[in-house]
Amino acid sequence: MSEQLTEQGFVRVCALDELPAVGAAAADIHGRRVALVRTEDGAVHCVDDTCSHANVSLSEGELDGCTLECWLHGSRFDLLTGRPTGLPATEPIAVHTVRIEGDDVHVALSEES
Ligand code: FES
Repeated sequence: MSEQLTEQGFVRVCALDELPAVGAAAADIHGRRVALVRTEDGAVHCVDDTCSHANVSLSEGELDGCTLECWLHGSRFDLLTGRPTGLPATEPIAVHTVRIEGDDVHVALSEES
């Protein structure tokens, strides 16, 4: 997915229809890997793609409601807060701001990036 800078730090990351109907896809924003996640209610979330327990891709994990579960050891992360809700991870992951404009997904990286 290619990025394109827009105003207020938002970057156009992809078209909405490039995301799975329900599920996650990895993307790159200014060299930072993020996971774009569309949940069953149609909302799109963006979090860091790297598990805080070890260096694996969360977008390859399982989506359960508004929770993304790491495929390697099963840590679970709340997509709204980034907080781990299941061990072994104890550190949160960054949550980024998503804005849908027409058919496009725009993301502003959070300060903690
Ligand atoms: S690498 Fe994600 S839970 Fe261990």
